[in-house]
Amino acid sequence: MNLEQLNQTTARIEGEVATALRDLTTVDALRGLESRLLGKQGSLGSLIASVKEFPSDQRGQVGKLLNEAKTRIKSVLDARVSELQAAAQAGASDGAAAFDPTLPGVAQPMGSVHPVTAVQWEVERLFERLGFTVEAGPEMESEYHNFEALNIPASHPARDMQDTFWLTNGMVLRTHTSPVQHRAMKKFGAPLRVIAPGRCFRYETIDASHENTFHQIEGLVIDRDIGLPHLIAMARTLLAEVMRREVELRVRPGYFPFVEPGIEIDMNCRICGGAGCPTCKQSGWVEILPAGMVHPNVLRAGGIDPDEWSGFAFGLGLTRLAMMKFGIRDIRVLNCGDLRPIVSPMRLGGPIVYQRC
Ligand code: FA5
Repeated sequence: MNLEQLNQTTARIEGEVATALRDLTTVDALRGLESRLLGKQGSLGSLIASVKEFPSDQRGQVGKLLNEAKTRIKSVLDARVSELQAAAQAGASDGAAAFDPTLPGVAQPMGSVHPVTAVQWEVERLFERLGFTVEAGPEMESEYHNFEALNIPASHPARDMQDTFWLTNGMVLRTHTSPVQHRAMKKFGAPLRVIAPGRCFRYETIDASHENTFHQIEGLVIDRDIGLPHLIAMARTLLAEVMRREVELRVRPGYFPFVEPGIEIDMNCRICGGAGCPTCKQSGWVEILPAGMVHPNVLRAGGIDPDEWSGFAFGLGLTRLAMMKFGIRDIRVLNCGDLRPIVSPMRLGGPIVYQRC
């Protein structure tokens, strides 16, 4: 090999080092490359070992050329090693966090949103997209708002439909979210699109689908030429969105003094698929969305002229909808402090089995 060829060889080796540096991101890999190049058997190391074979008048020049190449390569590799070590000390090497046992631990998120809250948020988002506002009403209500403004005077037998917790101050724990209908009419007038989620209370005999404390979402639309088809289309949209599929519905007449006509919209029971179980009282259907056209007396009480405006209202059984969505067989687990029956099966995505607490 003459001097010219030696120059070309060292230039090629240095070029290979520059290319390899882009891919090698650990100190070990760099040290490996160094020994492959500069070790006795290495591509440059073996050349250095062969200097004595060159004619004596060339040895000085050859040795100088090879040693300079070795120094350049070594300094490039050392610089990259220092870079990696500095990055590791600063907390990141190759994008992975360096382990520092003196740092405080990272808290793992605990628990999750309650199933009823999760469905409530979902319904709120849907209705917000449809141009509804979301209102809240008080849980301790006046008798007027809970009953009279809704066309249920004191003597009306419909008061017996909702077993009521009466408070010593003459107020009630609201039995439904419907009082917010009246409050919204007074606040906004017509036209109006509003939903009102909230907790309701009834002095109920508790079973798999009845609690004394449960959630509803009231809905109210007041506009011109509103009819039952709007209501049923909205119910379909709402239930399909929450259940992520078309839901089989059953519509039947229902009686509520604050609507005329009144209907009950039931959904196919997700727990038994319609075969009958304790959750749906063996009927295969779950009462989920009673509704109807707002009664003229209710519009009048809210300061809205029933000759000009019409509307529909509904009272979605939010707790029961959450049960259907997550396959929760028994309503009692939702108000109980034992998270096992709810949290773990929800994570697994399967239906749960009721455990008494
Ligand atoms: C009412 O409460 C009416 N205010 C609904 C309404 C609003 C009708 C607007 C017309 C117009 P109901 O008592 O059926 O209706 O209750 C509505 C829903 O709340 C039921 O379908 C059911 O899903 C749920 N619900 C009622 N009582 C309980 C309870 N004790 N436990 C759990 N969910 C209940």
